[in-house]
Amino acid sequence: MKTGPLYKRKVLLGVSGSIAAYKSAFLVRELIKWGAEVQVVMTTAAKDFITPLTLSTLSTRPVYSTFLHEEEGAYGVWNNHVDLGLWADLMIIAPASSNTLSKLVTGACDDLLSAVYMSAKCPVYAAPAMDLDMYKNAATRTNLKELDARGVTIIPADHGELASGLVGQGRMAEPDAICEFISTHLQKQLPLFGKNVLINAGPTHEHLDPVRYLGNNSTGQMGTALARAAEALGASVTLVLGPTNYPLELHGLRVIRVVSAKEMLTAMQENYASSVLTICTAAVSDFTPMTAADKKLKKTSATSTMSIELKQTPDILATLGNAKRKDQKLIGFALETNNGINYAKEKLISKNADAIVLNTLSPNTGFESNTNAVEVFLQNGEQLTFPLVDKRSLGKQLLDALVDKFAWV
Ligand code: C5P
Repeated sequence: MKTGPLYKRKVLLGVSGSIAAYKSAFLVRELIKWGAEVQVVMTTAAKDFITPLTLSTLSTRPVYSTFLHEEEGAYGVWNNHVDLGLWADLMIIAPASSNTLSKLVTGACDDLLSAVYMSAKCPVYAAPAMDLDMYKNAATRTNLKELDARGVTIIPADHGELASGLVGQGRMAEPDAICEFISTHLQKQLPLFGKNVLINAGPTHEHLDPVRYLGNNSTGQMGTALARAAEALGASVTLVLGPTNYPLELHGLRVIRVVSAKEMLTAMQENYASSVLTICTAAVSDFTPMTAADKKLKKTSATSTMSIELKQTPDILATLGNAKRKDQKLIGFALETNNGINYAKEKLISKNADAIVLNTLSPNTGFESNTNAVEVFLQNGEQLTFPLVDKRSLGKQLLDALVDKFAWV
């Protein structure tokens, strides 16, 4: 499965009557590979080129073609074009025949496809397919120009051999190229497109000997949720992840695995300058043993106690906060058991962060929980409250709020 802006999108695929309709089968499969949910609507003419059964089998949904429901015994049941139009996150008309293009322009809606188009509020893409002279014809040129002016994105036809045997422009773009085109087009409109986001997550382990360490129960869920949310907003995300065994959904993310605070600092420093947004969610150990034994520490019968001398680990957030930054925002997290608001405000200053996200330890929040509730303290004194919700949704809400506040666009 590919990742990108087509993932989990509801796509209405309008198929009109052109020999290129045979490629719709491949387009349905390609869209599904990108994670989209596909509903096919086809014109009557399209059924001469490809059967509804092929498209319904591949899309795993019934194909709609007429206003009247075609199922036996379903007389008087309508395929509701308004519902279909509103259901879709985006509509792709591929192939878009010359006839269908002209109907989209004039508003003629004597078939389900054109009626659905009239009702659709989502972005619409059209991939024309016709013979070269039809494609060159002034009527087609004018229709494509007009649709473009009205906000329909035209996916230009390819140049090559045509069904007529002639060679020229008019071949429908290939299904994989259509998906790439739409994915890039949608991606470019996202607020973090072309920007790097750096996030750290999970615990760190500070080794006492080869088998023992100082660590904590952080799972890395909050940082991963933020990474996913940043990716969905178009960012290239680097996730610096400490040692966690929690089954995180890391597919498609650039992940740098680290163990200790020192390693985490190095990975963060290497990626910091190129990132517009850095979020430190990691529960970094504050202390590390002065020396780590290279062999397993043995208990002796001579004494029943043992002391380990610890030294402070580098404070990653503070180190990044005190490094020069230009057009970059740095966000820290704070987990407190008492007096949280004061500590969070103090950290905003001592770590020179642009915002501190405060979460308090309770059965439903913090380390091992799947849910979280936080308050965000911003440098300008503003305070934002995010009530209890699952961490994935919270990641999205937080990212949306940060983008809104810092407006990189
Ligand atoms: O000072 P405190 O550990 O409470 O601050 C928490 C914030 O600082 C978090 O964002 C955490 O990721 C970060 N931190 C850090 N390096 C440390 C300790 C905490 O970056 N050594």
